[in-house]
Amino acid sequence: AAPSPIGIDPLQSVAKELKFLTGNIQQLLGSGHPMLDTVAKYYTQSEGKYVRPMLVLLMSQATALTVKHDRSTPQALDVDSPMSPSTVLSDSNPSSPLTSPPVVEDLSDTSVLPSQRRLAEITELIHTASLLHDDVIDNSISRRSAPSANIQFGNKMAVLAGDFMLGRASVALARLRDPEVTELLATVIANLIEGEFMQLRNTASDEKHPVYSQETMEYYLQKTYLKSASLISKSTRAAAILGNCSPDVVEAAYSYGKNLGLAFQLVDDMLDYTISGAELGKPAGADLELGLATAPLLFAWKDNKELGTLVGRRFAEDGDVKRSNGIEQTRAMAEDYINKAREAIAFFPESQAKAGLLDMCTKVLQRRK
Ligand code: FPP
Ligand code: MG
Ligand code: MG
Repeated sequence: AAPSPIGIDPLQSVAKELKFLTGNIQQLLGSGHPMLDTVAKYYTQSEGKYVRPMLVLLMSQATALTVKHDRSTPQALDVDSPMSPSTVLSDSNPSSPLTSPPVVEDLSDTSVLPSQRRLAEITELIHTASLLHDDVIDNSISRRSAPSANIQFGNKMAVLAGDFMLGRASVALARLRDPEVTELLATVIANLIEGEFMQLRNTASDEKHPVYSQETMEYYLQKTYLKSASLISKSTRAAAILGNCSPDVVEAAYSYGKNLGLAFQLVDDMLDYTISGAELGKPAGADLELGLATAPLLFAWKDNKELGTLVGRRFAEDGDVKRSNGIEQTRAMAEDYINKAREAIAFFPESQAKAGLLDMCTKVLQRRK
């Protein structure tokens, strides 16, 4: 990857780690059935962005330099506790101090634990499984500049390969022998489906939202947390937990991931309007076509209430969004979340990995695919 404008390539501190990632993932996906083997490995052969594993690895390195926590006292088992999606948009984290402690020796080459490395692989498996299902649901024809799996192998095989991938991710997760981390990642899987269900209801043709209200944006952001930020935030949190970090560091890792994840999806929803399909490597303008009201359209609607009737009837057009400043407002909202992500980890000791985490913030805002 080209160095970023601020001069630090996050790949630098995790480059060695990433080298083993695809090989390990393919090993986790091996099946004796040759066709299943092929379909399951299909998306792992094209170049993904590896955002989630990169964040897990960077978080593992950056938190390795913080003071450790004793987790030896087992927590009481609570088999009856509710399984609702963790409450999401309210921060459990009190604002973190903004001053940085002095620079500490960089340990980035040695500081990733085997369990954290495996966690990075698990996050990519869960993400890829969700893409296999997503392309079926969205009836998409391309992904990562190639025909999508549903086109190449058909819906049935694409769905089953996604399920297989979740099975293998669960085995790898169980082998970490960490109940808290297992619960976090299992909740992520449930959250992905909850988010996707919210999106099915929140299509632009949904008569339940004929009028724009504050609820409309809240619903969208909740859905965005569940479908995108949950995986990112719960895996950066899990990285800190596996590293035996103190509770304030665990919360900071979560807050960073949550805010970065929300910004990531806001930018994704913006690029759907602003970038061509050729550059994206997947169909552009897909959301409006699917009747999905994402942030750019919601902001346009907020400022032009008359758009509501068009949105309700699925008659809203690309031009309605482009004539408004919905795209600018989406970008501004993404910037706000990025600033919160930066603040969350401001108190981490200076290191190459922390610089990488901050650089990921810049990259999320600048990305074009
Ligand atoms: C991409 O969104 C899709 C997701 C972030 C999550 C999709 C989740 C599911 C289909 C639920 C099933 C989950 C599992 C784990 C099997 P998008 O369609 O907005 O983005 P795109 O433009 O990349 O397609
Ligand atoms: Mg899609
Ligand atoms: Mg989708």
